[in-house]
Amino acid sequence: MSESIEVVGAERMAELGVKLGGACAAGDVIALVGELGAGKTVLAQGLARGLGVPADVPITSPTFTLINEYKHGRLPLYHVDLYRLEREAELEHVGLWDLYRGEGVVAVEWFDRFPRLAPRERLELHIGRIPGRDDARRVEIIAHGAVGTRLARALTLTQGA
Ligand SMILES: Nc1ncnc2c1ncn2[C@@H]1O[C@H](COP(=O)(O)OP(=O)(O)OP(=O)(O)O)[C@@H](O)[C@H]1O
Ligand SMILES: [Mg+2]
Repeated sequence: MSESIEVVGAERMAELGVKLGGACAAGDVIALVGELGAGKTVLAQGLARGLGVPADVPITSPTFTLINEYKHGRLPLYHVDLYRLEREAELEHVGLWDLYRGEGVVAVEWFDRFPRLAPRERLELHIGRIPGRDDARRVEIIAHGAVGTRLARALTLTQGA
């Protein structure tokens, strides 16, 4: 299942994340794919809010920390950014594979850098720029397995509502 939507403005991008957060269950993996400045972190910020991380807790980019963990919400959120990771072996040190089967929700920016380590069940969101426009992004929603299908439905069923 794959569908694409146009998302106008960062606020709507965050709202998409909020919606996703409401539908997440323990162990869900959300793969965020898109070039620099696509809107991956904005979406993850919304996701955190949707999981119930309070507004006064800042959701910052994990570019340098690799993983940021938030335990304030309905489920733990692990916000991961693979941009600066050089080698696949480093991932073992950070225990990403354990997070994938764990008790929290895992959102991974630059997921496509290490495609070999993809869990079978996941929702992928490919965020792309729209030529000639800076006010919007195209988000392709790609479901892998039952987890992906459940989350994709949550995003598309209420589209426009
Ligand atoms: N749907 C949207 N329409 C227009 N602008 C957007 C949209 N979503 C996000 N933006 C803007 O894009 C910029 C970059 O967003 P963000 O930091 O989330 O990108 P990123 O994909 O995480 O980048 P990086 O790869 O550097 O981590 C921000 O200025 C944000 O406001
Ligand atoms: Mg980012």
